[in-house]
Amino acid sequence: MVLQKNYKAFLMVCMVWPMLALAQKEVGPYRFDHGPYLQGLTDERVTVYFTTSEKGFSSIELREPNDGTITRHVTIDDGLIQANNTLNAIALKGLKPDTRYEYRLFSTRIKQFRLSRNVYTDTIRTDWYSFKTVNPKAAGCTFVTTSDIHDDAKKYERLLSHTAVDQADMVFLLGDILSHFSREGQPYSSFIDVSVDKFAKEIPFVLIRGNHDTRGSLSRTYDRYIQRPDKHFYGVYSLGDTFFILLDTGEDKPDSHHDYSGLTAFEDYRKEQAEWLKQVVKTKAFKAAKHRIVMAHIPPIKDDGTSTRVSVHGPDMVYKLYLPILNKEKIDLMISGHTHRFQLIEKNKNVNNFPILINDNDSMSLYTVSAKGVHVKTVNSTGEVTMERTFVR
Ligand SMILES: [Fe+2]
Repeated sequence: MVLQKNYKAFLMVCMVWPMLALAQKEVGPYRFDHGPYLQGLTDERVTVYFTTSEKGFSSIELREPNDGTITRHVTIDDGLIQANNTLNAIALKGLKPDTRYEYRLFSTRIKQFRLSRNVYTDTIRTDWYSFKTVNPKAAGCTFVTTSDIHDDAKKYERLLSHTAVDQADMVFLLGDILSHFSREGQPYSSFIDVSVDKFAKEIPFVLIRGNHDTRGSLSRTYDRYIQRPDKHFYGVYSLGDTFFILLDTGEDKPDSHHDYSGLTAFEDYRKEQAEWLKQVVKTKAFKAAKHRIVMAHIPPIKDDGTSTRVSVHGPDMVYKLYLPILNKEKIDLMISGHTHRFQLIEKNKNVNNFPILINDNDSMSLYTVSAKGVHVKTVNSTGEVTMERTFVR
């Protein structure tokens, strides 16, 4: 929300803080710890996530290049301006489509939070970063996918170093990015800090949950780190004339499996998504799109009864629940991960009416969608190009 009435008060704070700071004992440099990184970029909004080393009052300055007007944005919840916090997710709303903006973070440490006697100390800010809002009329798009990073930030960094991520409109992290979420801040060290360093200050990422991302004592806190605009891990996304369906395929074994201690309910959750998917394919946005891409961590693979592994359950559920719905539609490509083995399942009439690409656990792909089709170039962590192909519907 743009800070207007409160801006003068905030400026007063900025003028007064050096005097107050003199009276306070220094406790180390105040700093931005993690981020900034972009989430939920559309044609009219984006949310910027970042943390500070101590509690403070944070805001974002926004401007258009070559325009001297700067607006300040904060989060306001139920009449309260968000402050005295370290974790920030500040939405920039009312933006113009297909427009480049510049932003920088601004934060003042709150030494003491008391009614009418708040003590503010250090004020810090970042350099200017930029992003471009989505162009709903764009023909085609460019995006990056990877999966099955399993907390290996070094591998993730290597994959990004071999990929032209700066050309991408969006990065889709296709699940099992964490192995077992059990440590506070784990998403930062496992993938967010590297993302920030390589692209996420200016290009957003979307997390599509894998079965491993659902595991661990803190897996229920994931939305502190990433945005789920509609409160679900499944959803749709549009980049120009390309429509993405993102499925959250849950765990790979039945809910009754002892690994889950009776604390999962993915059977019903997947069915809920099947009903949702039936509605999605009826929407104007889906029908009007020129290109349609489906992403799901667990690929659709039929249980033919020959495997003794209980984990064939998840792929079989994805096969039975979603393929019949998707097979009736004009889908360009489905992209998955999970198996740690590269596989291209070619289009097979009335089985899968579109190709299914399964990413392994050491690859990253750059996709370019255009009138020519969906072009994919895949590299491994040594930089070797392992696949290049254009899928034509
Ligand atoms: Fe998986």
